[in-house]
Amino acid sequence: MKQIADLLACFQAHLSSRNDDLVARFTAGFEWDMAERKLEPHILPVVEYLKDIAPYAGTPELLSALAAAAKVLRWGQTYGAGDFGEDFLQRYGWVELFGTRGHFASEDMAGGFLLLGPDIVYPDHHHVALEIYIPLTEGSLWSKDGGAFQPRAAGEIIHHPSDIRHAMQTRTETLVALYLWRGGPLAQKSRISGRDQ
Ligand SMILES: [Fe+2]
Repeated sequence: MKQIADLLACFQAHLSSRNDDLVARFTAGFEWDMAERKLEPHILPVVEYLKDIAPYAGTPELLSALAAAAKVLRWGQTYGAGDFGEDFLQRYGWVELFGTRGHFASEDMAGGFLLLGPDIVYPDHHHVALEIYIPLTEGSLWSKDGGAFQPRAAGEIIHHPSDIRHAMQTRTETLVALYLWRGGPLAQKSRISGRDQ
């Protein structure tokens, strides 16, 4: 589908435009020419917040491509109401653009977008795969390895080593973040830190 192919092209172009060693090492050898899966769209309440985002100067094309494709993407949630409550589910969701389940097929790396509506905490969680996050909007706070929440600017490159717990928090602004997973099971359900046993 054209909107989704355009989104993948923008995703790849954004990463290569960053000219960043960490991103280059993380994505080294990745085959971007992937087969497209025909996935049924699935919309979540959090997708509505995409209308309100103010793109930062570095990524208008990527955020515009995401907004243009939003209604044909298969948005998902890892958790249920028993994990972080019903209110969380109203303001949380992600889409796997490529990976073992996503709109394009890869067994090597997964990538997509996380959305968090305003005034929400995504508590500590962890997973085996290594991860890169790039917030595409301003105003979010991030915690790594149990540290204090720190503001992260749009465009920052955040690396989570394997099984390091991490958490995010929003205030007045919606968070849109690009993510990459590699080097572990790509469809693992993130574990909620402290509730592993
Ligand atoms: Fe993560």
